[in-house]
Amino acid sequence: MTIQIQNKEEYENIYNRSVNDPEGFWGEMADTFQWKKKWNKVCQWEFDTPDVKWFVGGELNITENCLDRHVATKGDQVALLWEPNEPDAPALSYTYKELLAEVCKCANALKEMGVGKGDRVCFYMPMVPELAIAVLACARIGAIHSVVFAGFSAQALADRIIDAQAKMVICSDFNRRGQKFIPVKQVVDDALALGVDCVEKVIVSTLDSENTTVKLTGDKEVWWHDVVNHQADTCPAETMSSEDMLFILYTSGSTGKPKGVVHTCGGYMVYTCFSFRNVFQYKDGDIYWCTADIGWITGHSYIIYGPLLAGATTMMFEGVPTYPDAGRFWEICEKHKVNQFYTAPTAIRALMAKGDHFPEQYDLSRLKVLGTVGEPINAEAWHWYNDKIGKGNAPIVDTWWQTETGGIMISNLGGITEGKPCFATYPLPGIQPCLVDKDGVEVSGNDVEGLLCIKHPWPSMIRTTYGDHNRCKQVYFSAFAGKYFTGDGARRDEHGRYRIIGRVDDVINVSGHRIGTAEVENAINEHDAIIESAVVGYPHDIKGQGIYAYVITDGSIDDEAAFHKELNKVVTQFIGPIAKPDVVQVVPGLPKTRSGKIMRRILRKIASGETSNLGDVSTLLNPEVVQAVMDGAKK
Ligand code: WTA
Repeated sequence: MTIQIQNKEEYENIYNRSVNDPEGFWGEMADTFQWKKKWNKVCQWEFDTPDVKWFVGGELNITENCLDRHVATKGDQVALLWEPNEPDAPALSYTYKELLAEVCKCANALKEMGVGKGDRVCFYMPMVPELAIAVLACARIGAIHSVVFAGFSAQALADRIIDAQAKMVICSDFNRRGQKFIPVKQVVDDALALGVDCVEKVIVSTLDSENTTVKLTGDKEVWWHDVVNHQADTCPAETMSSEDMLFILYTSGSTGKPKGVVHTCGGYMVYTCFSFRNVFQYKDGDIYWCTADIGWITGHSYIIYGPLLAGATTMMFEGVPTYPDAGRFWEICEKHKVNQFYTAPTAIRALMAKGDHFPEQYDLSRLKVLGTVGEPINAEAWHWYNDKIGKGNAPIVDTWWQTETGGIMISNLGGITEGKPCFATYPLPGIQPCLVDKDGVEVSGNDVEGLLCIKHPWPSMIRTTYGDHNRCKQVYFSAFAGKYFTGDGARRDEHGRYRIIGRVDDVINVSGHRIGTAEVENAINEHDAIIESAVVGYPHDIKGQGIYAYVITDGSIDDEAAFHKELNKVVTQFIGPIAKPDVVQVVPGLPKTRSGKIMRRILRKIASGETSNLGDVSTLLNPEVVQAVMDGAKK
């Protein structure tokens, strides 16, 4: 089993070792896994292209490491625990033995339906066990999974299916979220009608096979239970090279359409397991719960792969934090005796706002480590989490990372290295962060601020953007030569601890979800009355950032509230409800530079209510609109 750091001194020693001898260090870590063939070179890299390879020449199957190897030693331990939306419905659990059998059955079904190594399979599913099972089934046979968050629209789903040229879609009939019953299969139908011609088969799982109202049509579509249930429960694990693709996950950037971040088998396996064990300090017998959705990277790395690789008991939750009431998370922590709990600042803030009497009703004494991820956590939320949930006894790990990094990069290690409110603190072993100024010059020393880059490869880093390697190069490796650029700004305090300030590009982080301003603008511009729009983020009490849209219309709008609703509708149609603008302001013009570029800096300030210090606006093409935009600004 990969090492688990026991104290601060050991962390420092191992960190130094990982920097001085990365290949020796990661070779040793990789040795703790089950390989079909050992690698002949630990790391081969070049950032300019970029061309990064880990465990070169090695062969493995990640599911043998997640499942088979644990069956021998802890086959009857629960691997996956599932808590349903309805608090009175029974929880489900799968032991390592049972989970392996389910994964094999699904893998056999996929093979029977013509899916093989290298084929892309797109998922559009709620948080049900079938999602985790089928993701692992893909990995078993070497098919590449691309999970799309089930809150995205049909159009967004279609774009992702087409980009990946997925051969199969796996979905469910409905999605239960709190009191809502959301059609899922219908969205897939709508997506497939939008010019998708690569999909050969659709597997539909159902929440209730006896009573579902969904009807399958055509011979493309099959029920999960019809194709999976009768299969044999063993399936050989496909041999994968370390650098074969494991999955694609689409994420928003500052320009254009979402890009498919590609992760590969060997390095991702080694790093997600290593980071999981060290950050959460998982011990045998613990119950670990991450509340993320598997549609995001956190769910991939820290619900499925990391915990299973480490032989943990990992829980997934179908529902929402506020159903039946705002005590649900804490009720579940008590019920399942949760030891490590990992969530997002937006959830903490939302639950904090509902009052202390919710957590006070439950026994939270088993919590040992609390985690946060997805956006900077504000001091008030940090203290509430620490005091009311952890009761001062459960260290908070503030984990900074990204879809592109595959695993946690900067974080304290629960109870091992000290936390500091609002600071991610120190890099994990093997991670070499640095700060640079806008010219790419490294800012040395402590108590400094800059743009966060990483200067040495780590095993789970992005390899490419699917179908467009040049985009990967441009976005991450071209801004500063020889470094991976994160898109985040950060501060390093007097002790070398990092505090992540937030995105420095045109990406908004809404409730921990990355949304590109350009994507929202493109959607808004689809409305007939829109001439031009500019979208920026602004501070939002619960969501972290809200979406503020400035729009120039053709003058046909007289009811602004109704117009806002119409814009919500188009955004929901093109992206999904998560990207709906919180504020829409109709403006006579947008401040532009003489070359015609929208001055987003000014718009961001106005949206944040910071109007006293707009900087010099006299060089603008149209300085007069600034006052007009300010006058019409909405609170
Ligand atoms: C932000 C989520 C501050 C950051 C795993 C990053 C954070 C983006 C933190 C990636 C944190 C994530 N503190 N900011 N602990 N964790 N972020 O790809 O801006 O959905 O670039 O990955 O979230 O978001 P993504």
